Amino acid sequence: MRNRVRIMKEVSDNLSKEVSDKQEKNRLWWESLPMTYVDWEGKERIPTTKEDFLKIEKEFLYGNPFVRDEFNFGGLKNKLVLEIGCGSGAASCLFAKGGAKITSVDITENGVNITKENARTQNLKLEVHREDAESLSFSANAFDFVFSWGVLHHSENTSRAFEEVSRVLKKGGGGLIMVYNKNSLRYYVNGLYWLLLRWKIFRGYDFERVQDFYTDGFYHRHFSPKELGKELERVGLRVKRISITHMGLE
Ligand SMILES: C[S@@+](CC[C@H](N)C(=O)[O-])C[C@H]1O[C@@H](n2cnc3c(N)ncnc32)[C@H](O)[C@@H]1O
Repeated sequence: MRNRVRIMKEVSDNLSKEVSDKQEKNRLWWESLPMTYVDWEGKERIPTTKEDFLKIEKEFLYGNPFVRDEFNFGGLKNKLVLEIGCGSGAASCLFAKGGAKITSVDITENGVNITKENARTQNLKLEVHREDAESLSFSANAFDFVFSWGVLHHSENTSRAFEEVSRVLKKGGGGLIMVYNKNSLRYYVNGLYWLLLRWKIFRGYDFERVQDFYTDGFYHRHFSPKELGKELERVGLRVKRISITHMGLE
């Protein structure tokens, strides 16, 4: 645990010092520590074989019970689906297995390459591009469904990314977006621990920034359900349901 905190914080601190472009800090954080469901301190973090990728799929479903239990990857057969922030491509491959026409994007070269390799080893058809959620190259109304799981809160300007989701989604289309929840014990208990017991409050940290010590990504914005609803409606998306979900326990 201590090592994991050190690794994540070291990456963030170096980027704070060395990189001036705000979105580059986000991109380079994920290039350094791609989302492969191997612990941050793991030595061999890059999957290569079909078995590695099937293990990631299992971890993705186990770690995200909401997706496993409440979302049907097979329900979008022949539909045009966009996954934003595909990471290792677990969800994209599940969409492909379910018969969707899936386009996957990630801001990192690593995310793109790992997702391509995931699809190749499983003999699945995906279109994968390196793209920034804040300025997608797709035309308006291009997709029936947009899926983005644990991504947009890491972008430098999450509001801009929400606007892009709304723009590329067809009228009457749908989507599923997961962002971090602010109204949670995790946010406040961890925040208070680091701010007060580890004295970070005296070093200028606040609740949002102190998340650097235990949350992934260079940026990690948290939303209350109310804030999220307001943001989505602001960009013209009709909110059908906001659920508070939990991660599978390690
Ligand atoms: C926590 S990982 C989640 C990966 C995947 N969705 C999953 O659940 O396994 C966040 C991913 O979002 C990507 N990402 C962050 N900001 C992005 C942006 N602005 N545009 C596209 N991808 C982004 C990162 O490169 C990383 O692969």
